[in-house]
Amino acid sequence: MPESDQSAETTTAYAANQAWWNEITEPHSASGMYDMAAFKAGRNRFMHQYILDEVGDVDGKSLLHLQCHFGQDTISWARLGATVTGVDFGGEAVKLARTLADEEGVDATFIHSNIYDIGDRFDKQFDVVFTSYGVLAWLHDLPEWGRIVGRAVKPGGVFYIAEFHPGGEMLQHDRPIATKEDTSIGMPYFDPGGAQSLPGEEGADYASDHKTGIDTFEWFHSMEDIIMPLIDAGLVIELFKERDWCAYRSHEGMIVDDQNRWHLPPDCPKVPFMFSIRARKPAN
Ligand SMILES: C[S@@+](CC[C@H](N)C(=O)[O-])C[C@H]1O[C@@H](n2cnc3c(N)ncnc32)[C@H](O)[C@@H]1O
Repeated sequence: MPESDQSAETTTAYAANQAWWNEITEPHSASGMYDMAAFKAGRNRFMHQYILDEVGDVDGKSLLHLQCHFGQDTISWARLGATVTGVDFGGEAVKLARTLADEEGVDATFIHSNIYDIGDRFDKQFDVVFTSYGVLAWLHDLPEWGRIVGRAVKPGGVFYIAEFHPGGEMLQHDRPIATKEDTSIGMPYFDPGGAQSLPGEEGADYASDHKTGIDTFEWFHSMEDIIMPLIDAGLVIELFKERDWCAYRSHEGMIVDDQNRWHLPPDCPKVPFMFSIRARKPAN
């Protein structure tokens, strides 16, 4: 639970989410999506080349990875020459991240913390603050997230996010999509207000078939909800991209291409499934 927000709703939501992430860490580490054998053989993760292109060269730079899970991306950035710090509220994930870094002989710092509480855990600023793929729905307060990000970026440094687009999240999940007739809106675009409970026994986890039985809580954020906190934090957006494919099979019936990008069948309308933003803090 974020120490900064002790309301009953967030306390319940964060306790459940933390328990879910702790239980899912082991199934994730054993999953094909995280392909630990390939990672240990030296394959950097990131999943898609565009992230490397858009973040740019990190060699010699300090990099903070928010919501780093068990650290495959964080360690991958270290292999590319960055001095890395990862933060995650999953105790199991952070333990595994530290083990992985040791095994790989990579110098990396992992902090076990809710991102809302990292403020007093370090007073450093970073050349690059990075976060990706499945992070914002777990956060209840994006204005505060924007302030945390803004404080963590060095003057002249950048914040980068690659994330699932709230537009794609609207599509119904309860039946396979074969034709455009199957595409209908099942979820809101705008925040319906407060944490939404998602039953633990339903729906597919993005990386494994494991069912935890723990109901999780997520928050809906529109693109405005995501972008304005970055602008309000004084960051200047220099790149914004939207993509009509998803990084994983978010909907049954999707078709994967040879670059691991999941598309709706050809007859369907194009929907934004992913976005990325690079925002810079002006140099002093
Ligand atoms: C979908 S995962 C990110 C996956 C990562 N991009 C990867 O591919 O490994 C989301 C992560 O956010 C973490 N998380 C969720 N809410 C958090 C919070 N408030 N503070 C810190 N970590 C949080 C979870 O523990 C989980 O590891």
